Amino acid sequence: MAFVRAGLPRGQSTPMPTLAPSPDALRHRPAILRPRRALRGLRVLLTGGSSGVGRSLAVELSARGAAVFATARRQPLLATLAAEHPIAVLAGDVTDDAFRRELVAAAATSLGGLDVVIAAAGSGAIGRFAEADPATLRRVMEIDFFAPAELVRLALPALACGRDSAVVLVGSILGLHPIPLHADYCAAKAAVHSLSGTLRAELAPAGIDVLLATLGPTASEFWDSLLAGDRPVWSRGRQLDATTTARAIIAALERHRATVYPGWSAKGFALAARFCPRLIDRIVRRRMAKG
Ligand SMILES: NC(=O)c1ccc[n+]([C@@H]2O[C@H](COP(=O)([O-])OP(=O)(O)OC[C@H]3O[C@@H](n4cnc5c(N)ncnc54)[C@H](OP(=O)(O)O)[C@@H]3O)[C@@H](O)[C@H]2O)c1
Repeated sequence: MAFVRAGLPRGQSTPMPTLAPSPDALRHRPAILRPRRALRGLRVLLTGGSSGVGRSLAVELSARGAAVFATARRQPLLATLAAEHPIAVLAGDVTDDAFRRELVAAAATSLGGLDVVIAAAGSGAIGRFAEADPATLRRVMEIDFFAPAELVRLALPALACGRDSAVVLVGSILGLHPIPLHADYCAAKAAVHSLSGTLRAELAPAGIDVLLATLGPTASEFWDSLLAGDRPVWSRGRQLDATTTARAIIAALERHRATVYPGWSAKGFALAARFCPRLIDRIVRRRMAKG
C-alpha cells in the first residue's frame, strides 16, 4: 500500500453520508450469536501507530489481512512502519481539528471507506494535582479524551456505511479507579470509558459496535513520553507486552465484545475496582509509604 505523505488540504474533507439505522443491526443479536468479524479486508483507521500498542495493533491487523491506515506525529517512525508492512500512514497531531478532518478524509479515500476506527494514541502526566500546571491537564484531556471523541464523531458517517463497523477506544484501568499523582490521566480515561458507554447505546441501531479496551500496565514508550513528571517507583511492576495486548484487543474485536481487559493485572484490577475499591486504596497507600 502506498506511503501517504500528504492527504487533502487542511480543513477540506470528502462529503460523508449521514448516519442511518441499519436494518440488520436492529436485530440486536447478542455478540455470542454473531459470526466472528472478518479481519481480512477490514478497513481500519488507527491512531498511535508509531509506537507501543497502536503500532502492534497496526502490524497485527495488517498481518491478518486488514487494510490499515495509521497515524501519529513522528513521521520517521511511520515511514518505517509503512516500509516494513503494507500500511498507509499520515503524520500529524490528533489534537488538531484540521488534521483530524484531513486524516478521516485521507483514510476513507485511501481505503475506499472505513469499517473500524481505533483510538490508541495517548499520553499521561504525573504529579500532585495542587502543584501541577493547568496547561498539562488541558493537554492530557486534549490527547486522551477530546481527540478520540472528535475523531470518532468525524468518522461516524463513514463507519455507518462500513461493513461490520466498530469503534475501538483505548482506556485504562486508571479510568476505573483513580490513584494519587495521576489525576489528569485518570480523569481523561474515565471520560473515555463514559463515552464508550454512551456511544455503544447510541450507535447500536446504526450497526456500529463500540469496544472499550481497558489496559493495565503495558510495555511501551508511554512512561518515557510523559507530559509531566516521572513514573513513581511504587507504581512500577510487571507489564504486559504490546503485542499480547494488541492480540487480546483484536480477538475481542473479532468476537464483537464490548470490553476487553488484556492480561491478568488488568482483569484483577478491574475486579478489585468493582468489588473492593478500598483494597486498591490501601495497597497504593502502603506502596507509596514504602517509596
Ligand atoms: N502503557 C501503559 O501502561 C498503558 C496503560 C493503560 C492504558 N494505556 C493507553 O494505551 C494507549 C497506547 O499507549 P502506549 O502504551 O502504546 O504508549 P506509547 O508507546 O507512548 O504510544 C502512544 C502513541 O500515541 C501517539 N500520540 C501521543 N500524542 C499524540 C498526539 N498529540 N497526536 C498524535 N499521536 C499522538 C504517539 O505517537 P507520536 O509520539 O509519534 O505522536 C504514540 O504512537 C494510550 O491511550 C494509553 O493511554 C497505556
